[in-house]
Amino acid sequence: MEASALQGRRVIVGVGGGIAAYKACELVRELGRAGAQVRVAMTEAAKQFVTPLTFQALSGHPVLTDYFDPAQEGNFGHLDLARWAELYVVAPTTADLLARIRAGMGNDAVTTSLLAFRGPVLLAPAMNVAMWENERTQENVAALRAEPRFQFVGPGAGMLACGDVGAGRLAEVGAIVVAAASLFAPGPLAGRHVLITAGPTREYLDPVRFISNPSTGKMGLALAEAARGMGAKVTVVLGPVGTVERSGYEVVDVVSAEDMAREVLARVDEVDCFIATAAVSDWKPETRAAQKVKKSEGPETLTLVRTPDVLAEASKRVSGREKRPVLVGFAAETQRVVEYARDKLERKGLDAIVANDVSAPGAGFGVDTNQVTVLTRDGTQREMSGTKREVARSILNLIQDFLPRTPSPSGRGPG
Ligand code: CTP
Repeated sequence: MEASALQGRRVIVGVGGGIAAYKACELVRELGRAGAQVRVAMTEAAKQFVTPLTFQALSGHPVLTDYFDPAQEGNFGHLDLARWAELYVVAPTTADLLARIRAGMGNDAVTTSLLAFRGPVLLAPAMNVAMWENERTQENVAALRAEPRFQFVGPGAGMLACGDVGAGRLAEVGAIVVAAASLFAPGPLAGRHVLITAGPTREYLDPVRFISNPSTGKMGLALAEAARGMGAKVTVVLGPVGTVERSGYEVVDVVSAEDMAREVLARVDEVDCFIATAAVSDWKPETRAAQKVKKSEGPETLTLVRTPDVLAEASKRVSGREKRPVLVGFAAETQRVVEYARDKLERKGLDAIVANDVSAPGAGFGVDTNQVTVLTRDGTQREMSGTKREVARSILNLIQDFLPRTPSPSGRGPG
């Protein structure tokens, strides 16, 4: 694996308190040489071996050492760091750190930032051979290995700093860099730009009242995460859903159907795939009062007018083009699911539609699971079920076949 896969990648190096901490200095330098942007977090014990100043000089950024320090927390604290990063490398991972990571503890700068981090973690253990072979340590290693998100590199065997011989040496710095790079191997959607709408829209009738629906944006965000994981550059045009994880992809916040249409139409020409998961309000009040309407004077009849159909307009805009994005819709239905969905697929000129019986238990708004039927323009019909994340991956695998052979120029930009 080429170390150049690290170009531009955002990597945290979490340094544990072992004698091998000095080798983490070289690791930070080598990751930087390979093009990664590196930030460092240190445990209390690590500071006994190497000073934060050394890592600050090597990484070019302040080092997170104390999550109780208001100055550090105010300026890129443990949560900001976790949100920023794409990969977390823990080197050296001491026996104590392994135990705390496995237990889900958060009692220093490394474990708190790691707890808040959702991406892949590369652990490079280093400790005395007896500590490595200890049953507790091996249990912790086995438990973490069982989770796909945690990868190990090393430890190597040989003469240890304490004079003992055996397993426990920190892997060579070069091997850690290569292992880190391999976690960024180009995925099947590398070079592709995927645009996704997600969440509800709000159509205000006065400054404090609106028409909306209970969509939480979970399915769209699961697709965003899955597409990102498959190497795509991702833009999510997101209705109001409150606080959600938004690292690793661009988020364009919108409120109304009109905002959503504007932001989508400004981008749809440039992308390889447009997936409309948003629960767009089909209607809006005909007028919007500038001031809060008093109930004494409130109208008893609300006149509604249609909002733009974001997906249909996007489809109209790109139809007939030689290179147009793959268009994927969602159909939330409560009856005659497949029939209505196939009709929408044809009406809106789509390549695929994901039909969802929102009245079925374990499907629809706000839940973490979904069961869907995906219909494609060439007549295939596929059932998918599982967590929204699993369903997202299956949908993306299916629509890969429809992608134009050459990626869009915008997909090749920074993701
Ligand atoms: N959609 C959209 N803009 C709208 C309405 C729907 O982009 N104003 C998109 C949704 O994101 C979804 C698809 O169109 O991908 C189908 O949405 P759905 O609400 O199921 O269908 P409608 O087009 O609203 O049709 P109907 O009201 O007949 O069910």
